[in-house]
Amino acid sequence: MEPRVLVMDEPVTDLDPKGRRAILSISDRLRDRKGTLIVVDNEYENIIKADCIWLMKEGEIIAQDSGASILSNAPLLESCGVMVPPTVALFHAMGWPGSPFTFEDAKFLIKEGGLASCREKNGFEECYSLRKENPLLEARDLSFEYPGSSVPSLRNINLTIHEGEFVAILGENGSGKTTLAKHLNGLLAPVSGEILVENRLTRAYRKPDLARQVGYVFQNPDHQIFAPSVREEVGFGLKIRGEKPGIIEENVSRALVATGLEGYEDKSPFLLARGERERVAVASVLAVKPRVIVLDEPTTGLDYALQLETMRMLKGLNEEGHTIIIITHAMWIAESFATRTIVMGHGEIITDGPTRRVFADERRLSETSLAPSALVRLSNWLGTASLTVEGMVKELQP
Ligand SMILES: Nc1ncnc2c1ncn2[C@@H]1O[C@H](COP(=O)(O)OP(=O)(O)O)[C@@H](O)[C@H]1O
Ligand SMILES: [Mg+2]
Repeated sequence: MEPRVLVMDEPVTDLDPKGRRAILSISDRLRDRKGTLIVVDNEYENIIKADCIWLMKEGEIIAQDSGASILSNAPLLESCGVMVPPTVALFHAMGWPGSPFTFEDAKFLIKEGGLASCREKNGFEECYSLRKENPLLEARDLSFEYPGSSVPSLRNINLTIHEGEFVAILGENGSGKTTLAKHLNGLLAPVSGEILVENRLTRAYRKPDLARQVGYVFQNPDHQIFAPSVREEVGFGLKIRGEKPGIIEENVSRALVATGLEGYEDKSPFLLARGERERVAVASVLAVKPRVIVLDEPTTGLDYALQLETMRMLKGLNEEGHTIIIITHAMWIAESFATRTIVMGHGEIITDGPTRRVFADERRLSETSLAPSALVRLSNWLGTASLTVEGMVKELQP
């Protein structure tokens, strides 16, 4: 319809990086014909081309300025629960002049100002170790195709996940991530090959026993939610297992605390906001305390503060011994939290290894049109081992 003003409300949530670029390139086309684009978003990466940013909080516009000046104002962004571009945070922490929020700008400023020199990249091999004891999940030559479909959705997947790992699965939309995840808890059964949980075929398990081993949080929380109250929703898995009411109550309240949902017990899950429904779905799986928790894009639709809260909660569970597998499109989440990263493309595993190594190989990642975050591209270029601002500061400080 070629409107003069186009408003898009979180248009790229749920999309892979390639889909995001395609949607956001609308801005260039609109600019060519002098149209106006208004994008509502909470991720800075989606709006770096904006001429002007309005920052909102509690129903008010609290700042209105050029993109560059808003995105470089760390305290302001923090006060609104928006992620500070990590390259900006790095420059501030190092006391370097400038507030670049793209890799190219950061690299330019470092080179121009002689702020740091690139190191040999052979120093960080030792941080590439993975767990190798206690295999928990194993896929052997796993292939799958949906009934009526002529293309396989998974081909010859071979994979072992060990107890205590924190794994991220990345890949374009349609690459088979959800299909693989649903095999891990027996929601789908292989067309050929096999899936083992603790050396036992998934199809040899009774469903409730398998659910105790592997919990799955659906990509869309609404595919999971059904009960009239949050309390019943979160307690359901325990109830069908025949747990005593006291135990149910205790586990439910612990899961609600962990997901920041205390006080929501009597609310209807259907009336909650998307982010809250997402957390109800996570809480229902947590309540059962499965050894392995598989989460399919659990941070979609959450703002940065809630994403961070969810990820810290998962990190805590991992430290308590739970094995965590998370499917995500957010590179920073994989980079900051996963020790191992698996990249899928067209139903196959493209690469699988320690997160640091996977993100060091930018060429390989780009085969699936993924790229590390601006911070990690900078870390790759500088030759630092760390994938976080704090870690890089430690390495770079003289
Ligand atoms: N219920 C279904 N019936 C038929 N094809 C499906 C179904 N679900 C997914 N697919 C196809 O399987 C492939 C992998 O999908 P999926 O596992 O959902 O990918 P991802 O989670 O990586 O986006 C895609 O080609 C998709 O179209
Ligand atoms: Mg999916």
